[in-house]
Amino acid sequence: MKEATANNYDIKDLNQAEGGHRRIDWAELEMPVLRQIRERFKKEKPLQGLRVSACLHVTAETANLMRTLQEGGADVVLTASNPLSTQDDVAAALVNRYEIPTFAIKGEDNVTYYKHIRAALEHKPHMTMDDGADLVSSLFFIEMGRYEKLEPSLASWAKGLSDEERKEFLAGVIGGTEETTTGVIRLKAMETDKVLKFPVIAVNDAQTKHFFDNRYGTGQSTIDGIIRATNVLLAGKNFVVAGYGWCGRGLASRARGMGAQVIVTEVDPLKALEAVMDGYQVMSMAEAAKIGDFFCTVTGDINVIDGPHFEAMKNGAIVANSGHFNVEINIPALKKMSVGEPTLVRPFVDQYTTKDGRKINILGEGRLINLASAEGHPASVMDMSFANQALSAEYMAKNADKLEKKVYSVPEEIDKEIARIKLEAMGVKIDTLTDAQLHYLSSWEEGT
Ligand code: NAI
Repeated sequence: MKEATANNYDIKDLNQAEGGHRRIDWAELEMPVLRQIRERFKKEKPLQGLRVSACLHVTAETANLMRTLQEGGADVVLTASNPLSTQDDVAAALVNRYEIPTFAIKGEDNVTYYKHIRAALEHKPHMTMDDGADLVSSLFFIEMGRYEKLEPSLASWAKGLSDEERKEFLAGVIGGTEETTTGVIRLKAMETDKVLKFPVIAVNDAQTKHFFDNRYGTGQSTIDGIIRATNVLLAGKNFVVAGYGWCGRGLASRARGMGAQVIVTEVDPLKALEAVMDGYQVMSMAEAAKIGDFFCTVTGDINVIDGPHFEAMKNGAIVANSGHFNVEINIPALKKMSVGEPTLVRPFVDQYTTKDGRKINILGEGRLINLASAEGHPASVMDMSFANQALSAEYMAKNADKLEKKVYSVPEEIDKEIARIKLEAMGVKIDTLTDAQLHYLSSWEEGT
């Protein structure tokens, strides 16, 4: 194995690589679909010669995706998609075992986060792979000269580039993929505003992604993150879930499974009705704020828990977020209502003291708690999400020239194929339609 050179990575500590190797191997055991794709990629090399810049949570599961792309012939660079989600030992193993240039340090500040995005841009990608669209939006802001939208140090670097150099970053990109709901929302807004510069596949929208990753993955790992950070009993407590989308449904069902009384808040009447029929209490956040012991936002929206909600909260309330960005909880508003600086009472628990003496605990600085204080989604669901990423990258490599500057769904045949392989790997057999059933289901003549 070649030693990674010092200038092509920025991680916490290369000496942690051994732990990362073990973690990557452990995750791989639960990723049979991705493994099968990797074996095929090794032979067929569908990504040969393509430079891929990935901006994803740097976890053991992501490492297995990076290996798959690399086996497929891609020249891959990986940067973190969140300052708190990196597993430092995995980052070390990626550099040391797979020689994948990795730029990610758990707890990195904003300047470092964007310095790492810059490294991914400087790779001059043919393909981008985002989780939240930070890489693509940085690329577009640079190309458009909208420096005011960039983090200041990234902006001053971009200002120093010639027009030609700035345009070069975009020139070679044939397309991209996007992992999460928030990223897809941003990309669709770019498409509407006609600023999307290449086709992107919305991996999040594949059924084999959000049915499982957003629901069961976020459900389990968010509870895991809250418990690891606090070790507070959930049974018998009021657990408020803000947002009853894919993630919220999973989180609510897992919190109920732990014995909590689950309260749901929503803005969409259909989702709220669904939560009522699923047996949860549904109310406004203003009401829930008065009685909640735990709060967790999973909406993709801003200020879902705001100043007036903090005013109403009980002493000792525990507040977390598992949505993509750290904007769902208005922490600046809480700061304004508090005396002095928060105390770090346990790792990932900032305790604020309000002027009337209540203690309010914010977990993981309001960043997605399942990655901040736990390990993110279990490998078994990431197997399907990342199978979608790998097959979408292959699809993009083959079809980019036929696609427009739009956000595309993952082709249905990819979705179905992933479900088929997953079931096979789980040893689950299903029925197939008989000829008579096929005929019946496609005809209109047979009624009562
Ligand atoms: P979704 O679109 O299925 O659900 C979001 C729900 O929040 C919708 O039902 C919407 O009506 C509701 N909502 C919006 N504003 C609200 C408000 N002010 N109060 C109450 N409800 C509100 O989205 P999904 O897939 O559940 O994703 C939610 C967030 O979680 C996104 O930011 C996504 O990127 C992120 N995500 C995080 C993961 C993690 O690992 N923690 C994994 C997957 C997604």
